[in-house]
Amino acid sequence: MERTLVICKPDAVERGLVGEIIGRFECKGLRILAAEVLHLDLEILGRHYAEHVDRPFYDDLVAFMSRSPAVLLVVGGPEGTVAMVRSLMGATDPGQAAPGTIRGDFGLEVTENLVHGSDGTGSAEREIAVFFPALASAG
Ligand code: RTP
Ligand code: MG
Repeated sequence: MERTLVICKPDAVERGLVGEIIGRFECKGLRILAAEVLHLDLEILGRHYAEHVDRPFYDDLVAFMSRSPAVLLVVGGPEGTVAMVRSLMGATDPGQAAPGTIRGDFGLEVTENLVHGSDGTGSAEREIAVFFPALASAG
């Protein structure tokens, strides 16, 4: 089974959109393998977003991601699940995201784009290990 890490970001939790977001993955046929509500802190966000620490938007990103609780999910399915989840989420900037995608249907601005999905199978396994160490793969 291919696995990916999804985060329903603080804006999604605040707006009561977590059920809708999980429902889209379930309607597609993907499986929720783990779920947790967690108020993320700067330490865990630094590990999760290690590739973005030097980017100009990093401070705004972690301020947003730590402002209220998020919902962490491990989503699993057949080969291609990581890309399928990204395609259900839509483009990073909700203003550009296609209608029918989560970001296209519910978002307006790149700072508040509702969901995170791992961008490859390697980053998925790395990110799953950050938030769900008990589920970390042996390799
Ligand atoms: P994500 O990691 O959240 O699934 O989104 P992504 O791969 O599509 O985007 P990424 O490049 O990894 O950026 C991570 C998050 O940083 C915020 N961002 N802000 N202000 C900006 O120009 C900017 N660019 C990115 C977004 O919240 C994005 O999801
Ligand atoms: Mg990303």
